[in-house]
Amino acid sequence: MEKFALLEIIYLIGSVTFIIGLKMMGNARSARNGNLIAAAGMIAAIFGTIFLHEGEVQPVVYALIFGAIGLGTVVGWMTAKRVQMTKMPELVSMFNGMGGACAALIGLMEFEHNAGSTGAMIAIVAGTVIGSISFSGSIIAFLKLNGTMNKPIRLPSYNIINTIMMAGVLIFSGWVVYAASANGGSLWMQSAAGPELAHGAMLFIYILFAVAIIYGILFTVPIGGADMPVVISLLNSFTGLAAAFGGFLYDNKIMLTGGILVGSAGTLLTLVMCKAMNRPLSNVIFGAFGGSSSAASGTEVKGSIKDSSATDIAILMNYSKKVVIVPGYGLAVAQAQHVIHELEQLLEDRGVEVKYAIHPVAGRMPGHMNVLLAESNVAYEKLVEMEDINPEFDQTDVVLVVGANDVVNPAAKTDPSSPIYGMPILEVDRAKNIIVNKRSMSAGYAGIDNLLFYDTKCSMFFGDAKKALTELVNEIKNLS
Ligand code: TAP
Repeated sequence: MEKFALLEIIYLIGSVTFIIGLKMMGNARSARNGNLIAAAGMIAAIFGTIFLHEGEVQPVVYALIFGAIGLGTVVGWMTAKRVQMTKMPELVSMFNGMGGACAALIGLMEFEHNAGSTGAMIAIVAGTVIGSISFSGSIIAFLKLNGTMNKPIRLPSYNIINTIMMAGVLIFSGWVVYAASANGGSLWMQSAAGPELAHGAMLFIYILFAVAIIYGILFTVPIGGADMPVVISLLNSFTGLAAAFGGFLYDNKIMLTGGILVGSAGTLLTLVMCKAMNRPLSNVIFGAFGGSSSAASGTEVKGSIKDSSATDIAILMNYSKKVVIVPGYGLAVAQAQHVIHELEQLLEDRGVEVKYAIHPVAGRMPGHMNVLLAESNVAYEKLVEMEDINPEFDQTDVVLVVGANDVVNPAAKTDPSSPIYGMPILEVDRAKNIIVNKRSMSAGYAGIDNLLFYDTKCSMFFGDAKKALTELVNEIKNLS
């Protein structure tokens, strides 16, 4: 078989593995294998491209390619192995930034080789601009998530500045495409060897690259750190789009399919997150929500609360028929997933039915709670989605809320002035008894007070989740 035909078949198989892999990632049970299948398709495509490439390749180029693959594999592998679950959004933003940088570099490299071609210039300029925005925006998102840039910086009238800047980037991009394409011509000339870039024309793509980098920074800098998961997902869709333009440029089917899949999955995820938080995307980008820790105004006690001890809660749970655990961001921070599984098993051994109620945006990234609980081998069928568990709360004896706050705040249903009004919540206030474990009365991500804590059926169980639950487990073990 011809080399080229074999490569096309590999690309086709690779594209199919991406689609199957993505589908399998929609379910916690098959997600790991889905990831492996898609990765296998990607590896086949990379090596197919290297070895089945048309034309002569210098040995030094092979050395550079394998050096880069080796370096990238070691750094990527070690970082992914070491990362803590709570730091996953940071890792995703860094990896996404690298993808954007690759797309931008392709544009910079290919500009001079495609003078006079309109289609190629559209793909090159679009890939460079979108990839650069995604790169610099992701780096800012990374710095915000790891706390280096923990305050949003808002220039006066930043929305106007950013809009003008965006319009400037678009107009300048349009001009570069026109001037370097077949119809324009001021950036290229016909030589004996074919179309050639005019002297100094590379400067324009470098300027465009620099301006897009600055725009990516200005776009991300005003957005609050707590909104970064949504922003990362949006930037992820930009990277996918930039890669798809690379696919157009090289007429490379797998790059095109992969880019389109990443672009559309990122866009859908962004919209799903916004919907689950009941906020339009424009509010995330232009609003100032959850921007700083000072937004956490709910620290002051605005009613009377009850405080419970581990001994009292142990007795209550031991004599219950049904317990529902609501995990939230604090569970991840405390790394209490193993002890919560121990609590679940202990109660089940004593004849108590235990389930976990999973809110779609509990934690700080999509599927955060599912991944965390899967790490401690909690059975998938024990994780119940919000729509399915809400009707069960009426028959629940005890709800144990661990490090969750906004996702159980009744203000989302009762207070039209609340920033989370309209967000679907876990209706834990329907249960007979509510226990809330957290360290203090501090607010969660939305920075607002939680009316649940003042409910007469609710008792606070203060303390770090891991420490408090370990105490609770020991108390239950001590019961005869
Ligand atoms: P939050 O509302 O953020 O509340 C977490 C609570 O955990 C805090 O009130 C905190 O109270 C407590 N906590 C922190 N460390 C703890 C520890 N070591 N032990 C015990 N408790 C601890 O969390 P949630 O209910 O999971 O809601 C998630 C929020 O994030 C939602 O508003 C959602 O819209 C937003 N969000 C989610 C996503 C995704 S995709 N999941 C993306 C962007 C935004 P103390 O400080 O008093 O302990």
